[in-house]
Amino acid sequence: MAMNHEIIEKNVGLLAVGIVLVISIAGLVQIVPLMFKDETTQPIEGVEPYGPLEFAGRDIYVREGCYNCHSQMIRPFRAETERYGHYSLAGEFVYDRPFQWGSKRTGPDLARVGGLYTDEWHEIHFLNPRDVVPESNMPAYPWFAENELDPERVEHRMRMQQRWLNVPYSDEELEAVQEELEGKTEMDAIIAYLQSLGTAVEERR
Ligand code: HEC
Repeated sequence: MAMNHEIIEKNVGLLAVGIVLVISIAGLVQIVPLMFKDETTQPIEGVEPYGPLEFAGRDIYVREGCYNCHSQMIRPFRAETERYGHYSLAGEFVYDRPFQWGSKRTGPDLARVGGLYTDEWHEIHFLNPRDVVPESNMPAYPWFAENELDPERVEHRMRMQQRWLNVPYSDEELEAVQEELEGKTEMDAIIAYLQSLGTAVEERR
């Protein structure tokens, strides 16, 4: 046995193959079972696909790169759960494609920000964060109030999610999208999105 190991140790090519083999098997052992566990693949009770306004808001969140300063992932540590509420569960992100977990926290985690503030607070905050949090270094987003949504585009995006990612939107739901979004601004959408975050879990801030 010691002799065999010496052969591997003295042959870089063989060693590399050995390392890749070990990492691949170990990786599969960790990853594959998760694909078959309901806990990691099924939505928890109360988690529904995003409605049109929330969905549009989520796209704005991505467009503006809010994830550069905000995470949406509460880790299972006391310092986190005391500040933000129940730690994040896999089943909360089933319809988040792609998820917005992030890792940079210039600002607070937003995974359970839904219901924490009024819509009006959010509006003032986006127009000028300093008006509600004087020491804030978050940028202002005044264009949210001016820009109307493009309902056709939102419907198209939602249809893609249904078609390619199996998000269970019904055809009736999708047909109603454009009407629901008529006259709505980006401000309406981003606020609706934030107010929906983390609300399926009761234990919040
Ligand atoms: C440059 C970093 C930065 C960016 C980019 C940023 N934020 Fe913030 N955000 C902060 C900081 C810092 C705070 C804490 C101070 C405050 O409330 O303004 C904050 C606070 C917040 C809060 C209140 C959270 C709480 O628990 O009190 C919300 C909601 C929020 N941001 C949403 C957004 C959204 C949506 C975007 C993208 C459109 C965004 N932020 C972009 C830094 C940022």
